[in-house]
Amino acid sequence: MSEHDHQDVLVTDGSQASATVHFVRDNVTVRVKLGTSVLHAGLAAGLVMESACGEVCACSTCHVWVSKGQNLLEAPEEEEEDTLDKAQLIKAGSRLSCQAHIAKAGHLEVAFPPGSHLHRSH
Ligand code: FES
Repeated sequence: MSEHDHQDVLVTDGSQASATVHFVRDNVTVRVKLGTSVLHAGLAAGLVMESACGEVCACSTCHVWVSKGQNLLEAPEEEEEDTLDKAQLIKAGSRLSCQAHIAKAGHLEVAFPPGSHLHRSH
């Protein structure tokens, strides 16, 4: 997958409801359409984001820490919580980025647990 995939989630003209997502480690911010997952926001920003299971909520390699704007995300389904239980370094704001879709306009800040999102999974 190239970093140029997922560009269709970006909002550039301000004409549609959107949210900004700041990725702390890489100090990059993107404006994306509502409904976009945090994973796809990161990919659209050109970041390496791991998603070993293909975004089917089975691996937890896409784990991120949402440090601001957690209330802008759709609440986690039970399946996400079950998979997240298997991840390392869980804390408040932990989400599976493939499952965390942005539901409301606003600003989010996303950090990566140490050692994660360093290698492409495919
Ligand atoms: S990519 Fe596997 S749980 Fe998100």
